[in-house]
Amino acid sequence: MNIPSPVNRRAALGVAAGAAVTGAVAACSGPAQDSGAPASGNDPTPGTDPAPAPSPEESVATVEEVPVGGGVVLAGAAVVLTQPEAGEFRAFSTTCTHEGCPVDEVVGDEIVCPCHGSRFSIADGSRTAGPASDPLEEYPVTVTEEGGLVVG
Ligand code: FES
Repeated sequence: MNIPSPVNRRAALGVAAGAAVTGAVAACSGPAQDSGAPASGNDPTPGTDPAPAPSPEESVATVEEVPVGGGVVLAGAAVVLTQPEAGEFRAFSTTCTHEGCPVDEVVGDEIVCPCHGSRFSIADGSRTAGPASDPLEEYPVTVTEEGGLVVG
């Protein structure tokens, strides 16, 4: 696992709070929406995921912020948090394994890359569709007594 520098909970939640207004954080526990086409055409921006992975010392979100059967993308923390089953939390890198674009939303039970349409399972990060061949990198995640999610 590559953890270049720490990201604190405030920074991660700042992204989430801002996203509630701007729509930058994608969270969904509803049915999948599949347009059948990449969200942004054929213009990948490999390596454009500048946010570092979260620090192993601090919570990046709370359990209440991650929907059961779905997940949230914390772009500022470069992590996707999912809860495939009630009380089962997973964390994945936002870096798509195809050409490195950041995944940007969770639709139903899939994590979606906007560049070429790769999709990954919220349960284990495995590819479910699109040109990527490898799963998303998974990080260990633990739940604190206070209900925080610590990744790393
Ligand atoms: S970078 Fe091509 S599908 Fe994600």
